[in-house]
Amino acid sequence: MKSEWTPAKGFVVAGLVALLCGALFGVIGSWQHVIPGVVDAIPFVKSRPLHVSLVIAWIFLTAVGGVYHYLPKIVGAPLHSTRLAWLHLAIFIGTGMAIMASYFMGRFGGREYWEFPPVLGIPIAASWLLFIYNFFLTANKHKGPWPAYLWMWATGIVFFLITFAEANLYLFPHFTGNMVRELTVQWKAYGALTGSWNMLVYGTAMVVMERASGNTAIARSKTAFLLFGLGFTNLLFGWAHHIYPVPSALWIRVLAYAISMTEWIILARMIQQWRSTLEEGKQGQGSMTGRFLFASEIWVFLNLGLALLISVPAINLFTHGTHITVAHAMGSTIGINTTILFASVFFISGASITKNLRMGFWLFNGSLLLFWLCLVGAGMVKGYYTVLSDLHFQVIMERIRPFIVGFAISGVGLFVGLSMLVWDGIQALLNLPNSLEDLAAHHAIDTELPRSPASVNGRAVHQGSSTTARP
Ligand code: HEM
Repeated sequence: MKSEWTPAKGFVVAGLVALLCGALFGVIGSWQHVIPGVVDAIPFVKSRPLHVSLVIAWIFLTAVGGVYHYLPKIVGAPLHSTRLAWLHLAIFIGTGMAIMASYFMGRFGGREYWEFPPVLGIPIAASWLLFIYNFFLTANKHKGPWPAYLWMWATGIVFFLITFAEANLYLFPHFTGNMVRELTVQWKAYGALTGSWNMLVYGTAMVVMERASGNTAIARSKTAFLLFGLGFTNLLFGWAHHIYPVPSALWIRVLAYAISMTEWIILARMIQQWRSTLEEGKQGQGSMTGRFLFASEIWVFLNLGLALLISVPAINLFTHGTHITVAHAMGSTIGINTTILFASVFFISGASITKNLRMGFWLFNGSLLLFWLCLVGAGMVKGYYTVLSDLHFQVIMERIRPFIVGFAISGVGLFVGLSMLVWDGIQALLNLPNSLEDLAAHHAIDTELPRSPASVNGRAVHQGSSTTARP
């Protein structure tokens, strides 16, 4: 079987490499908390943005790679322009390299997740325009009403560009001249940024579930459109629960919290229902895709518990700005986004479960649990002493040290687990056959999905039981 490169494969492989490099900078950053100055060449002011930008790049690269991979199969026609998709990838990787170089040279300039000099945002926006053009011209070939995931992708893709522009508004004096306006716009933009990548990732989860089971009813059900509606509302208003220091009406904040949590509940419910339609007894455990979707379901509930706690204003007073915020950010980007993206990577690559993958899976999830608990513990202790005692900052930091050491040690476990998964993922992708005949031989199935929806909410349907079918 011959294996060729496609833009989709290029995006996913680049995503896996970004994840590995990003996680490595995370490990460096965590040990810098334990032993200050441990890696002198890359101080924390550099390791943190290198880490955050690379892991966010993993989310975007892999989600976009999934769109390029699945879209032609969904619409039953080739991508409008493969050349433009290649150009998109080339610009993305080229700009990514320039961003890394600017961080290494100590040249910053942007804010939060985009700490690079703002001029580098121009090629990112330009390449995204190519993506929008290619996506809509290809998606238009879809016959009949769009399933929920196409709406989710379309909204996520368009709103990423709007949000990205909005995140750069601070460059105009009108915004920098007023503290409240500047903070509000910045958090509004970053709230919508997570909202836009969530749309891409949750849409991908739906596509993977549909293609793995052959059940086309899942993404056409009321629940699927409810998830789309909640995700979109969250994208527009989810910022409200991020900006406690900015005066905004309580009801807006409470509503924003309620919407983001309901969105998670619906996502977990959909995955649970999908698993219940799979082969009796196995519930998706027979493939890496099923295992990762199951893991994301569990992580949704863990993060939901934490989010519920920190949304109570009296508790938020203690936790705001502590390690609990970092636990919330990493808990959701690793526990939910990354597990769904791994489900997609292993589905696209068709990798079967090996001893290495099984070990990587457990090491990843086990270490992540410890990692997350240590961050929550550090945040609780720090918040408690900061608000309720007169202890000096230095003393408080000594009290949370055991948690920080635990965080750094489990971070190494997380990194090793991730490396095992990334290694096998890349290998399987590189061996992936490309032509339709090769694919059919690879999976011994036909590549067309059944067209007729057979049930609603994934309940009664049993159109297929394999979780490794039809990538
Ligand atoms: C391999 C293990 C990892 C380690 C040891 C690690 C460590 C760290 C450290 C030290 C920080 C900075 C925290 C601070 O500001 O004090 C951080 C932030 C962050 N990490 Fe990781 N990380 C890892 C993996 C990941 C992965 C895989 C993702 C996402 C896919 C991720 C997403 C984030 C995000 C979004 C932030 C920003 C948090 C915030 O601003 O609140 N990390 N990480």
